Amino acid sequence: MPNNPLPLGLITHSLPAHWLTALDGQVNLLHGPTDATSLAPELEARLGDAEGLFCLLTVKVNEDLLVRAPRLRVVSNMAVGYDNIDVAACTRRGIPVGNTPGVLTEATADLTMALLLASARQIPLSSRDAREGRWQTWSPTGWLGMDLPGATLGLIGMGKIGQAVAARAAAFGMRIVYHSRSERDLPGCERLNLDDLLAQSDFVSLHVPLTPQTRGLINRNSLHKMKQTALLINAARGPVVDTAALLEALQAGWIAGAALDVTDPEPLPAAHPLYSQSNCLIVPHIGSATFRARQRMAELACANLLAGLRGERLPHCINPEVYAAQKR
Ligand code: GLV
Repeated sequence: MPNNPLPLGLITHSLPAHWLTALDGQVNLLHGPTDATSLAPELEARLGDAEGLFCLLTVKVNEDLLVRAPRLRVVSNMAVGYDNIDVAACTRRGIPVGNTPGVLTEATADLTMALLLASARQIPLSSRDAREGRWQTWSPTGWLGMDLPGATLGLIGMGKIGQAVAARAAAFGMRIVYHSRSERDLPGCERLNLDDLLAQSDFVSLHVPLTPQTRGLINRNSLHKMKQTALLINAARGPVVDTAALLEALQAGWIAGAALDVTDPEPLPAAHPLYSQSNCLIVPHIGSATFRARQRMAELACANLLAGLRGERLPHCINPEVYAAQKR
């Protein structure tokens, strides 16, 4: 037996080894399967000994799990969002929780623009028509879409990702309005209350975290306030939008369309009626899915995990109050 055995770290998924090289020789790592949606039984069995947990957003870290992990000293989420984690329960136990902000901002903003452009210019529908033999000629009135220059983009949430979307949209000549908790004014963008934003925007794009305040923010009431010609884009979290209300809005024409990177539930079952709506574009939560962004997320999650195991402050800690409590 070595004198100082390495701390046991559970990683809920299998990830490419070159994303995790920082952990080599530092942690005794036990991996879950590639597509885990809960803690794998072999990891469950070692929960009692685990000192670090590296998790992805498909696995819930709640009271039930924490109770069975009395030696846990750090939870490192490989995501910027952390609604899969009961942060308050971690804080009560003095466990710092890490996330990965910044490194996925550009990738997520690019995906938002891809959704916006694709739905504005009818890319899914026209591509399907071409593939299925409905491209008979250059049609002067076929597959017409919306212009971006001069159109109003309403951003709900103006954190890093919202601002990165605003920079891209400005380059397309869009007017940018936003609604945000923060008091900070942003040059070139107009702050509006939520109702005015919904009423004025040709595109409404969501960039808020999922919290009790933002759950169901886009509901029957808010969808009715949008223009009938407007498109809704969600690359934030599925439950920010009430799915049943969105379906009704798309079917009844309260709004012109939606483009979703995230859904509620997730994954959206293959038989869900939203897939049958030709005015709804759905992709499977790929906002940060670029080679570079995902590798950098993993590297940051490794840095958080290692810092926690060494008793150092996490580079990105969601609940820094755990450190204040330690000082007392
Ligand atoms: C992805 O959705 C993330 O929160 O990083």
